[in-house]
Amino acid sequence: MTTHEGVRSGLSRQTEVAERAPGVEDVEAAEEAPIEVRGLTMRYGPLVVMQDLSFRVRQGEIFVIMGGSGSGKSTLMRHMIGLEEPAEGSILFEGADFQEADVEKRRDILRRMGVLYQNGALWSGLTLAENVALPLEEYTDLDSETIGEIAALKLALVGLKGFGSFYPSEISGGMRKRAALARATAVDPEVLFFDEPSSGLDPITASRLDDLILQLRESFGTTIVVVSHDLASIFKIADRALFLDIKEKTMTALGTPEDLRENPPSEEVRQFLTRSSEAEPPQASEAHADERHPPKGQSP
Ligand SMILES: Nc1ncnc2c1ncn2[C@@H]1O[C@H](COP(=O)(O)OP(=O)(O)O)[C@@H](O)[C@H]1O
Ligand SMILES: [Mg+2]
Repeated sequence: MTTHEGVRSGLSRQTEVAERAPGVEDVEAAEEAPIEVRGLTMRYGPLVVMQDLSFRVRQGEIFVIMGGSGSGKSTLMRHMIGLEEPAEGSILFEGADFQEADVEKRRDILRRMGVLYQNGALWSGLTLAENVALPLEEYTDLDSETIGEIAALKLALVGLKGFGSFYPSEISGGMRKRAALARATAVDPEVLFFDEPSSGLDPITASRLDDLILQLRESFGTTIVVVSHDLASIFKIADRALFLDIKEKTMTALGTPEDLRENPPSEEVRQFLTRSSEAEPPQASEAHADERHPPKGQSP
């Protein structure tokens, strides 16, 4: 059995129909998918991180990318937001291939995405309000007064009303995450990406952040892609979860966390979804990896 067949056999019939390459009759459906990944291979030089990834993220769903440390979750997210070029295959944003898009189109795609990096990655020399204002300055023609008002509103939406003049170092880790979330939603993105939103947070703070993510989807219908290895969070927020198997170097499961736990397509998936929280892989080594790649156009 090839790894590809292995993936397929693990998927429900319905998912399989939804995930197969589009034929003539379902081109329309493909165009509606906010994001489609087709035959993606990701590598760093000679290191193949993952290969043969194909899936669609559906409109308005919370889609979790899960897997052990080093399996390629962050790398996949960086591919999905256009920061890395596929070694093979393609990624479509509402039917448009980022790699083939011209500068204008790329800018348009980037404007419609909001990103929250693993450590929040706020600019430490800027206040919270200034941090949230950055994407508004970059992507809109609004005057500074309006931008200030929107920034205050976005901070209020994440429970940080009145904290606009604070610097990141003056607030807690959970508040920093929420401020980063406010910044990620500043220009009302259609798709939001979060890399390990709960990493470094205590369980209660992490759970509140999950509530906020659910609330965002509820209120604005935003499609949300979350990288996570945190089981409590995965079961709380995921509509569907994709499993990256570090040994197979490909995806070996895609479905609801509950279905995957009840009918795990492989021993790795079963172990991942039933492990005790103490057995979670350490993530500290990659804590600052994403700071090397600030979102395009958001440098101070
Ligand atoms: N910029 C990079 N250059 C080279 N190798 C990298 C880079 N970033 C990550 N890797 C490697 O790619 C693999 C996947 O990393 P990553 O996507 O960070 O995994 P995860 O987010 O699932 O922990 C790891 O083996 C990691 O060491
Ligand atoms: Mg990561």
